[in-house]
Formats: sequence, C-alpha cells, structure tokens
Amino acid sequence: MENIKSYVQQHKDRFINELIELLKIPSVSADTAYSQDVIDTAAAVKESLSKAGCDFVETCDTPGYPIIYGEKIIDPNLPTVLVYGHYDVQPPDPLELWTSPPFEPVIKNTDIHPEGAIFARGACDDKGQMYMHVKALEYMVQNNVLPCNVKFMIEGEEEVGSASLAWFVERNQEKLKNDVILISDTGMISNQQPSITTGLRGLSYVEVEVTGPNRDLHSGLYGGAVANPINILAKMIASLHDENNHITIPGFYDKVQELSAEERAEMAKAPFSLEKYKNALNIADVYGEKGYVTNERNSIRPTLDVNGIWGGYTGEGAKTVIASKAFAKISMRLVPNQEWEEITELFTKHFTSIAPAGVTVKVTPHHGGQGYVTPIDSIGYQAANKAYTETFGVPAIPVRSGGSIPIVALFEKELKSKTILMGFGLDSDAIHSPNEHFGIFNYLKGIETIPLFYKYFVELSK
Ligand code: BES
Ligand code: MN
Ligand code: MN
Repeated sequence: MENIKSYVQQHKDRFINELIELLKIPSVSADTAYSQDVIDTAAAVKESLSKAGCDFVETCDTPGYPIIYGEKIIDPNLPTVLVYGHYDVQPPDPLELWTSPPFEPVIKNTDIHPEGAIFARGACDDKGQMYMHVKALEYMVQNNVLPCNVKFMIEGEEEVGSASLAWFVERNQEKLKNDVILISDTGMISNQQPSITTGLRGLSYVEVEVTGPNRDLHSGLYGGAVANPINILAKMIASLHDENNHITIPGFYDKVQELSAEERAEMAKAPFSLEKYKNALNIADVYGEKGYVTNERNSIRPTLDVNGIWGGYTGEGAKTVIASKAFAKISMRLVPNQEWEEITELFTKHFTSIAPAGVTVKVTPHHGGQGYVTPIDSIGYQAANKAYTETFGVPAIPVRSGGSIPIVALFEKELKSKTILMGFGLDSDAIHSPNEHFGIFNYLKGIETIPLFYKYFVELSK
C-alpha cells in the first residue's frame, strides 16, 4: 500500500486542521456545564463519518450522551471490523498549568516530538486516535481499497464509565456483529518501538465519607476529645497498605492471576530505562509493591490509590476547626480474574469495619469494570503486528497496560469478539494531565498503519 503514504503526505494539512476543529469543542463528559458541547461533538463526529465514506450513519440516543454509529457494508460474506472510540474528554483542570488553553489547539515541538505535537485536551485521548480511523476510512473509500465491512461506534461517556454504552451494546448485538473490534485508545513504547497492548486493568472506583461530630467544632475546645474525621480518614487510608505495599483488604488478592516466571521474563524484555522513567517524572526513586519491578507494578499487579481527598478548611490563612466530615475518592486497578463488583464489596466491608466508634463511614461505589488480556496468536493480533512492522520497520512488542477501558471486557462477553488495541500515543503525551498532546508523527503514522491492519486481517481470515 505505497499509496497510503502519498495520500497522507498530500492531505496531511487538512487531516491536522480537521482534528484541530474537533479539539476546539470542549466535550467534557464529567461536567454538565459542557453538556451542549458534548452533544455538538457527537454531531461533528457523525458528519465526519458521513464525509469519510460511511453509507449509513446515525445518532443513537441513550439514557446519557449519544453514540454515533456508522457503517460501510461492502459484502456480507466478508469480515467486519468494528471500530470503537470515544469523543468525550477529561476535565482540563488545573487550567493554570496549561501552557496554552486546553481547547485552543496549537502545534508545538517537544524533545520527543520534533515534528510537532498538537496540544489540546483530548488530542491523544481519544479524539486524535479516534479520528485516525475516520481518515483511514476516507483513504480506503477514496482509493477503492476497503477490503471488508466496517462499523464505527463512537461514544461520549468513556471518561465517566461508559454506562450508556453498556446499555447500548446489550440491546444491539445484531447491529454490532463483527469479526474483530479495533480500538486506538492506548499507547506504545516509543516512536521507534511500536507495541500492541495485550492487557488492560479493571477498575473499582469508590467515594468514601467519614462523619464525626454533627457540626464543625472549635479545634481548641474539642481537639483531643473527639475523633477528627480528617485524622481518622488519613489513618484508615494509610492502613490499606502494609510495609511491603501490599493491599490489606482481606480477600483482595484471592483471584489475582499470577504470571509464570517465563511470562515475567518475557515482559522484562521490553525496552525500559528506570533512569529515564525517574527523570521524566522528576522523582528520586520509584515506589511500589515489594517483589515486583516497575513495569509489573503498573500492569500485572492490582493497586489502590487515593485520587482526591478533602475536608475542613483549605482557604487562605488558618482556621482552627475540626471538620464534621472528610471525604476521599479511591480507585483500585484490578487484574484479570478479579471481579470488580466483588472487590467493591470487599473494600466497603473492610473500610467500614476499620472505622473507630467515634465516626461513621459511608462508601458510595462509582463505576468499575473488568480487566482484559488478549492472546497474541489471534488473527487480529497478527494482522496488527504485520501492519506495525510495515510502517515502523520493526515488529511490535506485546505489552500489558495499566490503564482501563472497562467496556472491552463487556464487548467480549456481549459480542463474543476479541479486541485489538492499536494505540499510537506515548506515556509522555500527558493524557488526563495539563498539556496533553499528540505527536503529528503518531497521528499520521496511525492513519498509515490502520489500512494495513484491514488488509492483513482480511488476508489472514481467508
Ligand atoms: N484511554 C484511556 C485508557 C488507557 C490509556 C489505557 C492509556 C491504556 C493506556 C481511557 O480513556 C481512560 O482514561 N480510562 C479510564 C477509566 C475510565 C473508566 C474512566 C482510566 O484508565 O482511568
Ligand atoms: Mn481514552
Ligand atoms: Mn481517558
């Protein structure tokens, strides 16, 4: 497919400008202040799929934000690729740490991206990566090289748990029927070394509330005599890890899939520099579960992290007060075989049980999902590897990621098909952080590589 390279060269400015337009719409699904923008983004995605060559495109209403569905069916006897992506983005805060406004995309050079990168919320996660598929479709349709059927399902609630997508998938199994699901919403090792994500972690996300006295108290008059919810919450959270950084919730590790020594040795072959890792984060040392190295801690091992903690007085100056309540948002990343609902229950039971008598504890589950692992001997994986090998000049390495796309496990359950995670982002692209960006090289390479996946998937399916 020498053609795709020249097509990308010829149209790259337009490809970049179209993505920039999409990035200007602040489709923050977590914040209702942006709800019209989320809906406008859905409309823009729909329009782009029509223009790129889908024969049929529709806005599917759900209890939440709409799902954009599109398809081009060329022959029912040929395989069908289902592309999934999301058009919603994470909140952009803290705004003051952005070097340019999150919804005014600009191209800047970085050490890792000398060809430039688009800076904007959603540039990499996931508008940029999702849009590569739209442009790859455009190429295949324009040049008459689409080798099979394609369906698109682009949702607007991924960053808040995909509740409406689960609802939609359960009700539309026939419509979504496919031979392989293709997603670009993960990363790769580097621009010189592509990798294919073979695993995702599951998730259990909860909010906890610790209540002490019925009102905020003078910390002198009452201090020392009543339980301070913030002190207690801090103590309770600290007790969730032991001195080896193992999680102390009874039963937490019961179903964890342990990897064999061979599998761990295989993982250790992926290129990784601890020095570079520390330097990139400006930390003197890494920290984590005893007995595991960094790349295991952040992929094959479950974790528990506080994502936010608040309570009491945080304004200017000092106020002497014992707050009535303290709160925290806690996420647990899970590995294959751990059931997220069961983990949520274990957490709730344990966290409630460790509270001293002077406080009450409320645990509110948010959302969750199962982890996922995919074999590397499937046709889909092989096709992806051939595609990367051709465009990068080296084969891709299989890597298990620490992130979560909970809907992937549900796809397997409901649609009975495997997902191939062809990501083109880099860890340094700062997804969910200020100054998120996506390399122009990565964007264009993605558009180049995707049509090859289709080609090889169809060839290998014969
Ligand atoms: N695209 C990410 C997940 C991801 C990123 C996986 C990089 C692997 C590598 C996705 O948008 C995301 O942020 N997922 C959330 C979970 C969701 C339920 C909010 C996450 O992982 O925190
Ligand atoms: Mn994403
Ligand atoms: Mn995300």
